[in-house]
Amino acid sequence: MPSPLSPFIITSEHELRTHVQNWRAKDETIGFVPTMGALHTGHLSLIHKAKQHASKIVTSIYINPTQFTEGEDLSTYPRSETKDAELLHNAGCDLIYIPDGSLYGPDHATSLHVGGAALGLETDYRPHFFGGVALIVTKLLNRVQPDIAVFGEKDYQQLLTIRRITSDLDIPVEIYGAPIIREDDGLAMSSRNRYFDEDARAIAGQLNLIMRTCAKTISETGEIKPATETAINALLTAGFTSVDYVSVADAQTLEILPHTLGENLARLLIAATCENVRLIDNCEIKT
Ligand code: PAF
Repeated sequence: MPSPLSPFIITSEHELRTHVQNWRAKDETIGFVPTMGALHTGHLSLIHKAKQHASKIVTSIYINPTQFTEGEDLSTYPRSETKDAELLHNAGCDLIYIPDGSLYGPDHATSLHVGGAALGLETDYRPHFFGGVALIVTKLLNRVQPDIAVFGEKDYQQLLTIRRITSDLDIPVEIYGAPIIREDDGLAMSSRNRYFDEDARAIAGQLNLIMRTCAKTISETGEIKPATETAINALLTAGFTSVDYVSVADAQTLEILPHTLGENLARLLIAATCENVRLIDNCEIKT
């Protein structure tokens, strides 16, 4: 028996294009939220944001292999499509695109070299990542052809990189960022948070407080290094197994500010691992 949600889920590029063309013929505007599924309230906030700027909303669920590398969690990435569909339906999403099979043909031979804000930070630790994100986001934007697309500020470097790509490649879409949605203790919502056991979850919950304290100290003193060093020590003391970076960067270019704040807005960005789960988070530094 077909699921009551099945008309709302499509799997083929042809169906996707037909729906979008029909909407366009009725002067609807199209908003797009790409995801890898395992949805939570943070994703739903992206749908709400998209609904503020477009009349029909498409969400894709696709676990993109090109942004994972060996040893990462591609095969175990959480999947919950039935629950995802229900959440999206209730959030007012109009269409869920879950491609059947790989979006990369057997002869796929194109890669994208990304620069600008993609350099440094995540790229120092996951050099494959933004090339993979650039490919899939470009492919999905070409398939959906939305007027606007929404990405979360939790992946702040990803958001800036996607803005760069769409601008550089003349993809006619407006990119919106949506604020980070947090759990009660401040942990940024993430599909990977479901990997935590109780003890690790308690450790992870301390990241936000350490990050806020660091950002406050920097905004009060203007000095970066002592505050970021203190934050690294605090993370390790709290039980994080390793810290990839605690860095301050220009909020627009992501150029690293090693010593003092400049004239422009700055962002504090952190990546740290807690019991095999790598967390990223970021916040504005008030001036
Ligand atoms: O942020 C994500 O969930 C993914 O990187 C994205 C943008 C859906 C591309 O696979």
